[in-house]
Amino acid sequence: MKAIKILSACLLLLPFVSCTQKANDKGDAVTEKKIETLLSKMTLEEKLGQMNQVSSYGNIEDMSGLIRKGEVGSVLNEVDPVRINALQRVAMEESRLGIPLLMARDVVHGFKTIFPIPLGQAASFDPQVVEDGARVAAIEASSVGIRWTFAPMIDVARDPRWGRIAEGCGEDTYLTSVMGAAMIKGFQGDSLSNPTSIAACPKHFVGYGAAEGGRDYNSTYIPERRLRNVYLPPFEAAAKAGAATFMTSFNDNDGIPSTGNKFILKDVLRGEWGFDGMVVTDWASASEMISHGFAADPKEAAMKAVNAGVDMEMVSYTFVKELPALIKEGKVKEATINEAVRSILRVKYRLGLFDNSYVGEKKAEILYAPAHLAAAKQAAIESAILLKNDNEVLPLQSSVKTVAVVGPMANAPYEQLGTWAFDGEKSQSVTPLNAIKDLVGDKVQVIYEPGLTYSRDKNKEGVVKAAASAARADVILAFVGEEAILSGEAHSLADLNLQGAQTELIRALAKTGKPVVMIVMAGRPLTIGEEAEFSSAVLYAFHPGTMGGPALADLLWGKSVPSGKTPVTFPKMVGQVPIYYAHNNTGRPATRNEVLLDDIAVEAGQTSLGCTSFYLDAGFDPLYPFGYGLSYTTFKYSNVKLSSASLKKEDILTVTFDLENTGKYEGTEVAQLYVQDKVGSVTRPVKELKRFARVTLKPGEKKNVSFELPISELAFWNIDRMKTVELGDFALWVAPDSQTGEEMFFKVTD
Ligand code: GLC
Repeated sequence: MKAIKILSACLLLLPFVSCTQKANDKGDAVTEKKIETLLSKMTLEEKLGQMNQVSSYGNIEDMSGLIRKGEVGSVLNEVDPVRINALQRVAMEESRLGIPLLMARDVVHGFKTIFPIPLGQAASFDPQVVEDGARVAAIEASSVGIRWTFAPMIDVARDPRWGRIAEGCGEDTYLTSVMGAAMIKGFQGDSLSNPTSIAACPKHFVGYGAAEGGRDYNSTYIPERRLRNVYLPPFEAAAKAGAATFMTSFNDNDGIPSTGNKFILKDVLRGEWGFDGMVVTDWASASEMISHGFAADPKEAAMKAVNAGVDMEMVSYTFVKELPALIKEGKVKEATINEAVRSILRVKYRLGLFDNSYVGEKKAEILYAPAHLAAAKQAAIESAILLKNDNEVLPLQSSVKTVAVVGPMANAPYEQLGTWAFDGEKSQSVTPLNAIKDLVGDKVQVIYEPGLTYSRDKNKEGVVKAAASAARADVILAFVGEEAILSGEAHSLADLNLQGAQTELIRALAKTGKPVVMIVMAGRPLTIGEEAEFSSAVLYAFHPGTMGGPALADLLWGKSVPSGKTPVTFPKMVGQVPIYYAHNNTGRPATRNEVLLDDIAVEAGQTSLGCTSFYLDAGFDPLYPFGYGLSYTTFKYSNVKLSSASLKKEDILTVTFDLENTGKYEGTEVAQLYVQDKVGSVTRPVKELKRFARVTLKPGEKKNVSFELPISELAFWNIDRMKTVELGDFALWVAPDSQTGEEMFFKVTD
């Protein structure tokens, strides 16, 4: 039996600490000297110009005029290398000081080669596959001249009504921290000055994922303790990982818009975390403080943003227009402006833009390189979650001679790219229909009937036709879900059921009596309980990207085995939201034996049902818990051992366990370690993910796996507003998901 030691995922952050340390050694001193020399030559107008980001538009002469005047520090949304070089040449050769532009784009889950949406990538629980994806994105984006991406999006999100849950890494603070750091490593590479590196921009700082009601841009109310225990840690991990820039969020938290929030931008980000990069606003979020009612006019918006610690303004132009007067009036100090410009120049120097300003204009062989497509396929394979597999209908066996490929997402090359796939091209997407034909078309008859033409299609005529065709197949593969536009920014939903007539389609397919395999492509967890009941198997692929088709074909026919786990809780119905595993226990926790709606006696007595925290119509449990996912094989956890049952704050707890493949396929299990602080100075979550590891085992193989957990990582922000490990009893679980596993105990003592 092989023993493997899983180093703590937080080791992932170590290179960044050293990288950050490197940035503060002699190399940085040289950069700081260059910054001071350049700053001393700049006029106020040129300083304010650096703090101004414009979004590219058609008239390049017009933009060139602004750049020539030194009024622009960065351009976003320009992706034509010829135009990028032309704008850069104006900045470098026609402006007074020749300061290069920082070219930016939302390269969130791929540039041309589109990877699964980040929520899907998080389901892989594989930081390496996520880092590889970001690296590919950086290589492709930098090949056209983009050197700054507005990613990773690391907003912890616990409300699938929020369309932007698609862009993040789900509900868990630890998973989001690890995945965010991995993306930063991928985007920024080993050195920012490498021409294939692009500056990362963790966003949206902070708390945006807690928008009330899951309605985008809505207010949040996150008290400081929850901010520090749930929403800030991924951003702290990002700062430690050496992220070059940060972006402020649209939301006002407890009445203060992040773009004007000195506490998070100065006290926390710079004061506590030592961040020395650059802070950019979100799109017009400076001027939007007027709509918030936090600023009376553009002048007050500019003042509040720059005094709170914003360095660069995205597109709303209040800095260039309003700051000269504010400085004259003494409402903004020039020293503040100098600090902001230092941060901007620091990023530009670290990227090597002064020495390496232009991009080759013929790099077609880089885009969609075979290695990039292979990485995207691997990510899509690992992102898929097997939620149900009755009678082992999957993987499809050679006895299956005819399959029906049905549903609006079966051959939807644009939709499978998902949200924020600006530069991906549907012409390059390989759909499930085409991939299945390529993979098995020579030995399996493939019947294709979409049934519906798009996910919101309510026209049921096609449903009858699809069911009739599907009845001729041995197995029905039903591809359903959401069009790409139904998730992402400003795309919140109040109803999480499948759109259009998709439910009717699944029901009609089930009526044929043939096994239905439902494959869901979506930007969020959907309430698919009814459709899952009608299906023999359910594979959740989120939006799998350019290579989604080949990945799903391989999974369906067993060339690959599903290993994904849910990065977010799947509710039974939207009324359960917010619903997440790391909840508090409350004084009356659900027993899960509650009497539910249909079983309540008529004229039941007021207190006859017991008084616990649950829903009469939905119970307590979700449809699928966080961390859940099946395989084609089975795994057995045993022999869980703790290095000690009593530890001190400075100790490291080692947890070992045996993991055995008890099935007939080679597979990969994502083993998870959860910990509960049983009693705290404030109430603590019933459990929190602290480690995870992907373990690949052949049939019959058993490995001894170990997790190392420094007790210091059990620290939280307590009743005294101190981050500390409190003494006392703890529980832990080594488990396949957040709802099962054997409970073990240990103490932390003085
Ligand atoms: C958008 C988004 C942000 C994005 C920016 C630039 O409004 O909120 O995530 O990076 O504008 O496109």
